[in-house]
Amino acid sequence: MANLSVNICGLEFPNPIMTAAGPGAKDAKMCIAAAKGGAGGIVTKTISLNPAYVPRPCMARTNSGFLNTELWSEIPKEQWIEKEYKKAKEAGLPLIIGMGYTKDQIKELAPLVKPYADAVELSTHYVGTDVTPIVEALKAAKDVLDVPVMMKMSPHTDIQTIAKAVENAGADALVMINSFGPCMAIDVNTGYPIMGSKTGYGWLSGAPIRPLAVRCIYEASKVVNIPIIGVGGVTCGKDAAELMMAGACGIQVCTEAILKGPDIYRKISKELNEFLNEKGYKDVNEIVGLAIKKSNHREFRTHSMPPVVEHEKCTKCGQCRISCVYDAITIDDRLNIDESKCFGCGLCVTKCPKNALRISYI
Ligand SMILES: Cc1cc2nc3c(=O)[nH]c(=O)nc-3n(C[C@H](O)[C@H](O)[C@H](O)COP(=O)(O)O)c2cc1C
Repeated sequence: MANLSVNICGLEFPNPIMTAAGPGAKDAKMCIAAAKGGAGGIVTKTISLNPAYVPRPCMARTNSGFLNTELWSEIPKEQWIEKEYKKAKEAGLPLIIGMGYTKDQIKELAPLVKPYADAVELSTHYVGTDVTPIVEALKAAKDVLDVPVMMKMSPHTDIQTIAKAVENAGADALVMINSFGPCMAIDVNTGYPIMGSKTGYGWLSGAPIRPLAVRCIYEASKVVNIPIIGVGGVTCGKDAAELMMAGACGIQVCTEAILKGPDIYRKISKELNEFLNEKGYKDVNEIVGLAIKKSNHREFRTHSMPPVVEHEKCTKCGQCRISCVYDAITIDDRLNIDESKCFGCGLCVTKCPKNALRISYI
């Protein structure tokens, strides 16, 4: 068994898979259920000064991702402070309290959550893309709290500038990414937008945003020294490993926990452990930032290097051939790749359900 425990900002997590600010940690009951379901840490739903008036419908699973228009917690801060945090602490895991948004709101909220927070996570979601109000909110939290202040980032295009700015302003960790949008889905049976927001728009999460999360984490971890907690599209152990290889040292799961229930945290950490064992890693920390190290040894290539077929794995299902627009694949008694036709695009490798094709990345 590989070691799964991680230390982030001085906090010990028995495994790196935690809840994310969202329905899976919407109150103490859900936090306790997450702990029972194997989460290694608890991040609570973002609260703000006033409860959110959440438009309905506010959640939808589409065939290309999950949409929500949930805003922040609909539970008043008084209830969180008098009841929910106290109870959530009974989970016995590091408790990271989500709050937002402006410096004035944080100034009022920070002293209230202080008795319960092992760390706080400030959502920057509704603060815009300008770095000034984000840094002001961070400073307002740092003025009051002596626990780590983690900044939850939206998937900004120029993530490096904003990540560096919050590190320079004293952030203890980054959490990335929040859901992506705005996006829209329409119920074709009625013609109505599915989300009940005034615009009909919502925010995309789940597997489709994982490549965006990977890119953001990868870019940010190249320019900051503070830890990054990865979130966005993690559905299984290998997805968690991917975000960690991009530079994350902890993982949050939101959408998959909504869709599959709180036992998902244990399932993902078990799969992560199996993956590490299979690959010969003794400690999960060994894979953090691996892709950055690897990219230093990669050469840019414009010539074709056809994939190698592992014939003992190939079932000749033909999935690769269907998508080979270069007409390079034939199947007789075994799979053949015509090297004179193969463009080396790599699609067949990623399509093969049996992992029977390998391509060189260097
Ligand atoms: C229904 C729903 C509610 C969410 N509420 C919050 C929130 O209150 N605060 C926050 O920072 N992020 C919130 N998020 C964003 C998630 O924490 C997470 O960053 C995002 O969904 C990407 O992770 P995932 O693909 O695992 O869902 C919410 C996401 C969903 C789907």
